[in-house]
Amino acid sequence: MCGIIAYAGEKNPLEVLINGLERLEYRGYDSAGISVLKEDDIYTVKAAGKVSSLAQRIDDDSQLADTSQLHCGIAHTRWATHGGPTENNAHPHLGQNSRIALVHNGIIENYQELKNDLLAQGHVFKSETDTEILAHLIEAHYEKDLKKAVSEALAKVEGAYGIAVISKDEPDTIITARFGSPIVIGLCKDEVIIASDINAIVQHTDRVVYLNDGDLAIVNKSGISFHDLSLKSVQRNEEKITHTAEEAQKGGYSTFMMKEIHDQPRAVRNSVRGHLDFENATTSLGGLHMNPKELASIDRIQLFACGTSLNAALLGQYFFEDLVGIPCQVTQAADFRYRNPIIEKNTLAIALSQSGETADTLAAVHEAKRKGADLIAICNAVGSTIAREAGRGVYLHAGPEISVASTKAFTTQVSVLLQLAVLLGRTKRLDRSHAADILEAIDKLPEQIEEVLKLSDSIRTITEKYTDVHSMFFIGRGYQYPVALEGALKVKEISYIHAEGYHAAELKHGPLALLDEKVPVVAICTNKDSSQKIVSNIRECSSRKSPVIAVVSEGIETPADDSIVIPQAHPTTAPVLAAVALQLFSFHIADLRGCPIDQPKNLAKSVTVE
Ligand code: AGP
Repeated sequence: MCGIIAYAGEKNPLEVLINGLERLEYRGYDSAGISVLKEDDIYTVKAAGKVSSLAQRIDDDSQLADTSQLHCGIAHTRWATHGGPTENNAHPHLGQNSRIALVHNGIIENYQELKNDLLAQGHVFKSETDTEILAHLIEAHYEKDLKKAVSEALAKVEGAYGIAVISKDEPDTIITARFGSPIVIGLCKDEVIIASDINAIVQHTDRVVYLNDGDLAIVNKSGISFHDLSLKSVQRNEEKITHTAEEAQKGGYSTFMMKEIHDQPRAVRNSVRGHLDFENATTSLGGLHMNPKELASIDRIQLFACGTSLNAALLGQYFFEDLVGIPCQVTQAADFRYRNPIIEKNTLAIALSQSGETADTLAAVHEAKRKGADLIAICNAVGSTIAREAGRGVYLHAGPEISVASTKAFTTQVSVLLQLAVLLGRTKRLDRSHAADILEAIDKLPEQIEEVLKLSDSIRTITEKYTDVHSMFFIGRGYQYPVALEGALKVKEISYIHAEGYHAAELKHGPLALLDEKVPVVAICTNKDSSQKIVSNIRECSSRKSPVIAVVSEGIETPADDSIVIPQAHPTTAPVLAAVALQLFSFHIADLRGCPIDQPKNLAKSVTVE
């Protein structure tokens, strides 16, 4: 997934575009480029690597010293899909005669077919990308009417795109369109900013318009107009951004990940605000738009998601089965999309996605809708595609999550899933006192997370022993099994140590063969009732010489080599505290190994391509 931005206005477009790319860099960071309209021509600069390399190129470029005549441009930061992260493959891409320039986020699936047609017409391509094909295709349709050329070209395209296009013959005009990849337009006085997400817009304005799939917008001196792909006018509503530019900054921390880990008490408090109904020992989640009869009629749940959200969904499965007493199935979103899922009557389908833009989860949403499921979405990004496609659900209100490694989205997803389980449970078998205990536990979570955050230094001391290992296992039972999976995912993502999460009982069915003094095991033990089981698993690992680190609740003793002692909590909320401890554990290991924590190699914040 990439980040695109475009600007038309009186400010120096180079500054606005580079600043915007820096705020979109978490979307992709292997190469970048910019094109501006300069003296009736398109002037392009590209660079492999981070946005900072591109900014340096621009600073060193004498051709761009005088910016007084520059008013319009497009720019891009890339996450390579077609062709390696090279300068040549970096965007923007130009047409055959360099009359138009294009930036693109997404994948053109029928690009080879289109390319063959253009090759037959004598086109010559400079890059290995699918995007350059689209630039040539638009220019092939170009007869001094850019909107018409874009509309005709897109009619031939299969795949996903969010694009911005300029032409040297139509100064100060930008055409943008989307299908499958996000486009937001920021409305300011006498200037317009188009971007892949609001993080590149929030410092300029809080007034935005989200494009829908199949939308095309024309931006020029006379304003903005919205159309469908056949250029028929459509109405699009202005919306307000709910978070501040500051929230999208590091706030004095060295990384976004550490800032977001420490943001969790506030984020969890926000994910609960106004939802806990102590008087009736239940919760209220207004965004569901379901009356008590509809809630009570749900007798099956299908959850689908990817990555960290999938781990949160697995924990949700425990909550729904234990507290509501109805069957709940969790499926990796791409698998849900292609496995022909059984959607029975009274099934509630839940899409879980921090960004609300993950392509596989979006496709699973379409599949669930096609099969007539009652669908809700639980998302963090307000106004995101999945949230709007579902039309109802719950926002996490965790604030922007910039670091690629998801942290506060996980803990707020667990918080919201637990609140939903209480709401549904109280329409079925969850009694008042049990529900009241859980509400109290949820209400105590922010302060308990504060307690875990105070362990950061002592956790760093423990990790100092394990910075050179190549493999690591995470084990847990019951509610802590998905947390073990999440801990392993965090360590994999940011420290590049090969880590696996397992249900603790699964070790002796194979993984135990890999244990020795060089393979540490992290064991999560927060439930007094099952603690003896985990203690024997710890002994199993120690007897194979594996060093064991236990994440353990106060009052539980284990024979581990190192212990991270977290506050005692209700079984349903203890997973959140253990997850925060493991986030700190993975952060410190990665930091001690000198890894680029916020932008791990080969990854991107949300994956908008299949
Ligand atoms: C998690 O740290 C990763 N960034 C990744 O696994 C992520 O959870 C996954 O891509 C799903 O993203 P989403 O929640 O935005 O849909």
